[in-house]
Amino acid sequence: MSSLITWNDSYSVKVGSFDKQHQRLFDIMNRLHEAMGVGKGQTQIKTVLQELIDYTTTHFASEEAMLEKQGYPSLAAHKAEHKALLEKVQAYQKDFLAGKAGIASSLLQFLVEWLKRHIQQTDKKYGQFLNDHGVH
Ligand code: FE2
Ligand code: FE2
Repeated sequence: MSSLITWNDSYSVKVGSFDKQHQRLFDIMNRLHEAMGVGKGQTQIKTVLQELIDYTTTHFASEEAMLEKQGYPSLAAHKAEHKALLEKVQAYQKDFLAGKAGIASSLLQFLVEWLKRHIQQTDKKYGQFLNDHGVH
């Protein structure tokens, strides 16, 4: 089965640890896509969805800690984007757990688009800043 999303250099933020975290997020999204595609049980979808939400939360916290440590000037705006996303995802998850049909698939679609845009537009902006501060 083809992957939903493939990491390539256009997603690189020029910081190795964050590229790796983004790759892992893509990997989890692909696994969720696959679980839905082959009609795996709700239990497995629920498990991978939770993993995706947990890892997204971990990743955001990790970026924010680094940007805070290095005194990144646009941290507040960056944090606000993360917060808005997590609130939206939690609302989706609530609907999913309530058994609303089609939720996992619209959540996945929304997350893929959001993450692509956020990485390429917002995350990329910290790359040069962190490189200049000795973080690669
Ligand atoms: Fe990120
Ligand atoms: Fe970010």
